[in-house]
This record gives sequence, structure tokens and C-alpha cells, in this order.
Amino acid sequence: MKATASERCQLKGWESRLMSADEAAELIQDGMIVGMSGFTRAGEAKEVPLALARRARHDPLKISLMTGASLGNDIDRHLTEAGVLARRMPFQVDATLRAAINRGEVMFIDQHLSETVEQLRNKQLGHIDVAIIEASAITEDGGIVPTASVGNSASFAILADRVIIELNLSTPEALIGLHDIYIPQMRPARQPIPVVDASTRIGVDHIPIDPAKIAAIVLTEGQDSPSTVGIPNEDTQRIARHLIGFFEHEVEVGRLPPSLMPLQAGIGTMANAVLNGLMEGPFEDLTMYSEVLQDSTFNLLDSGKMTFASGSSITLSEECGQRIWPHLADYRDRIVLRPQEMSNHPGIVRRLGIIAINTALEADIYGNVNSTHVNATRMMNGIGGSGDFARNGHLSIFITKSTAKNGALSSFVPFVSHVDHCEHDVDILVSEHGLADLRGLAPRERADIIIEHCADPLYRPALRAYFREACQRGGHTPHCLEKALSWHLAAEQEGSMLGLTEPT
Ligand code: COA
Repeated sequence: MKATASERCQLKGWESRLMSADEAAELIQDGMIVGMSGFTRAGEAKEVPLALARRARHDPLKISLMTGASLGNDIDRHLTEAGVLARRMPFQVDATLRAAINRGEVMFIDQHLSETVEQLRNKQLGHIDVAIIEASAITEDGGIVPTASVGNSASFAILADRVIIELNLSTPEALIGLHDIYIPQMRPARQPIPVVDASTRIGVDHIPIDPAKIAAIVLTEGQDSPSTVGIPNEDTQRIARHLIGFFEHEVEVGRLPPSLMPLQAGIGTMANAVLNGLMEGPFEDLTMYSEVLQDSTFNLLDSGKMTFASGSSITLSEECGQRIWPHLADYRDRIVLRPQEMSNHPGIVRRLGIIAINTALEADIYGNVNSTHVNATRMMNGIGGSGDFARNGHLSIFITKSTAKNGALSSFVPFVSHVDHCEHDVDILVSEHGLADLRGLAPRERADIIIEHCADPLYRPALRAYFREACQRGGHTPHCLEKALSWHLAAEQEGSMLGLTEPT
């Protein structure tokens, strides 16, 4: 049942700041930097950005938009179609925006998710003019209680000149008290951030701001978009089985405890399949220190296999959402939502010893990973938080199907066309064919097992031939430079790498 505004808003005199979304959108001027809530389709402001898009159709304006990560409700699409976005950061997944980015019309800054607010705080990224934050409640001193995500909302609201709050009356009351808002001190006097395990709470349950900055309160009952996690197929299940087998082995030989180490997993079908696979393994007392709490997190909590999960957002499928949201109170002592600079903090990731599982578009025979650019040039989504975790994790794992586009493209290539995660940050690669454990291996040793364990058998002879020729030329990391990107050239010119598999 939805709440009333006076139940959720304790701020005295709040009624005087009540506005329609169209009125609030008028507070945003051409050229402004706007910080908006929203992280992996959860907790984005839903009314004002759409009002801004409507306004821009007759009163053109451009803004720089920063969010936590991706947005739901097609907001990036509407803003792109209305020509509102001059600059966008730090992550997106929208097809229309992606096309505009790749046409060079929107300047997209692809950034580690932990870094945005650190750079803002240190005045390296300009100044937030207006923050638009979705709230499930407003405290009597104007504090903002976020909804299904924290993302960058806390720092956006604290650093902004003016704040527009979208008070969402359809959010469960159990969200109040779930968040842990902590803002690190300014350097050089910064104190250690005292998170010592996934469940440590170090902050307060709302975003403290000066109430005088609240320029508008807009009421909404809009819903988050459900996640679009696909049904596990044979390939994703095989990837999951390889990884579960690896974890079992690590436990057997004493390199990991049966509770493993805190888990981080990217969002999506493959990551969900891997996490769901943990339900079958001999693991107990699992914890998660990740960005997104997704269906598999709640399945693991329900099964008793997982004891605690820390994230920055809750993003669920339609079906799982119907199961979880009405009973969120039952999970309150087992989950926490933090700002993304805390959920992804490199120091905490290193301290906790996180097992990081992320997805690659392609990897090369030496272990460099490309997660963002198709054929070196075309942005897919962005690096997201994968780099925050991959560089600093206890184990840095990348998963990918061995081929893309029905086998026309090999995901294992001589040299990746763009590097997001360099060979130094990649411990394990997994495809449906097998797992390559790269720990302690030199480049020439890595190439051998990546080709034999992970590449599709169809592409193995061509990869072996490349590696053989490269080794004849010598070097620590052997390459035939004139051929290193020839696989991508074939993809660009012929739409396929299959020609490389034919004997010459
Ligand atoms: N070359 C070209 N295209 C490729 C490819 C390759 N080697 N491998 C995959 N693709 C294409 C697929 O064909 C698909 O295209 P489509 O949308 O037109 O069908 C698309 O990339 C997505 O691939 P898919 O296999 O469906 O995997 P996914 O949905 O899990 O996405 C990433 C994979 C890498 C794009 C995604 O995980 C991502 O954006 N990662 C970076 C951010 C990140 O790691 N976040 C987690 C921590 S925040």
C-alpha cells in the first residue's frame, strides 16, 4: 500500500516546496552540471528528467549528466532523443544513447564507478549545480533517505547548490534504515575507512544536507524497471560449472575457506548463473560485497548459503521483485546499501579480499581484457565497477562466451583491440570450454592455456599459428605486430573472423 507524503516527509513546511515535475525541471538551465540518483536501473529520479526532456523539445538546452550508473525507465533514451545530453558519465547501457555516443554527439566519460565523487569533491570535475535525488523519506532536518540505490546520490546532494527531491510514495517502508551513508574525510587528513567485513555499518541511514538547499519536492509513485536477466542457457551453465569446480578445488587444497571470500559479481545473465550455481556447491556462510544485489543474491540468502550481502543497489527481475519487495523487512538484518564509492572502494576491496567476477567482451592470449569497446572504437556500456574490483580483488575472474555473433567472432584474440583490464589485473579466465588459471604464469605460459582451455576449438588452430610465429620472432610477450589486430580488421571488413579458421 502506498504511503502518504506527510507519513514520509518530516521536514517542517515541506508543502511550500512541493512542485510539479515540469516546474522543477525549470530549475535546470542550459549548460548546468546535474547529478542524478540511479544505479543499475534502481532508484533513478523518474519524473523530473522526463519533464526536462519534454521541455527541451520546445526550449532546447544541454546539460552534463552524472549518475551512479545506468538508469531505468528509458530515461537515457528520452534525454538523448530530446538532445539534452552534452556530456554523460560514468556509465550507461542504453542503445539510443550508445549510438549517440558512437556518433560523437554525446561526450561520454567512461570511468571507474568508485572515482566520480572523489573527483567531484576534489573539484576536478566542475561543480554540481542541481542534484535530483529519489527518496523514500525526508527526515525532519531535511535528510534524504534513498530508495533502491545509493549510487552517487549522497555526494551529489551534499555537493550540489540546489537539490530536487523526488519523494517516491510507492517504495517499501522497510527501505528506511537499510542504507549506510558514509562520506570519507577530505585528504590529507582522511582517516581509515573502518569497513572490516561485508556487514560493518559505519555511517548514518540518510543523506544529511542543509535543508535550505531543497529547492523542490516532487511526488512520484513510479516503479524501477525490472532487470533483464536472461534465462541461463547451456553455455552460461557450463561457465558456472567450471567456476564452481575451481572454487571447490581451491577449498580442497586450503587456498580458500568453505565460506570463500566476499563475492562481487557484475550484473547480467552470466554472473547470475554463476552465483546461482553456488547454491549447489559445498559452500557455507557466503558473503557478498558487491555493487548490485540481484536475484541470485536473494536466492542465496533464502537458501541459507549466504549470511550477508552488501551492495549499492537492489535490481531484481519482475518475478523476483514481486517475491522480495513486499517482504523486504525480513532481509533488513542481512543486507545493506552503501554509496558506490564505499561498495567499490579499492582499499576495502583489497582489505576484504574480494573474489571479483566480471564479464569480458574479449580477452587476448596473454590475459588482457576488453570489456567496453567493440573493434577498438565502438563503446558498448562502459567499464562500470569492474576495474575497481579487478585490480584490487583477492581473485580477479573474467568470464565470457568463447565466441560472439553465432560464432562469427572469437572472444579470444591475439591482441585485444582495447584494454580495460590489463594482464596484471586478471587471474582467471573462464569460457564455456574451460578455465585458465593465470596465477604465477609468464606470458608465454598464459597463451598456451588460454588457447587450449578457453578459446573455441574452431579458432584454436589460428591462435596457435599466431602464437607459434610470434614466439619465433621472440620477446617476453611475443607478437607479430602487423597481424596483432588482423582479427579485428576481418571483423570490421567482413563482419566475421571465420575466414581466419580456413587453412591457407
Ligand atoms: N566482439 C563483439 N561483440 C561482442 C563480443 C565480441 N567479442 N562479445 C560479445 N559481444 C556482443 C554480443 O554479441 C552482444 O551484442 P548484442 O547486444 O548486439 O546482442 C553484447 O556484446 C553483449 O554480450 P552478451 O554475451 O549478451 O553479454 P552481457 O550482456 O553479459 O554483456 C558486457 C557483456 C561485457 C558488454 C557487459 O558485461 C559489460 O558491459 N561489462 C562492463 C561493465 C561491467 O563489468 N560491469 C560489472 C561491474 S559494474
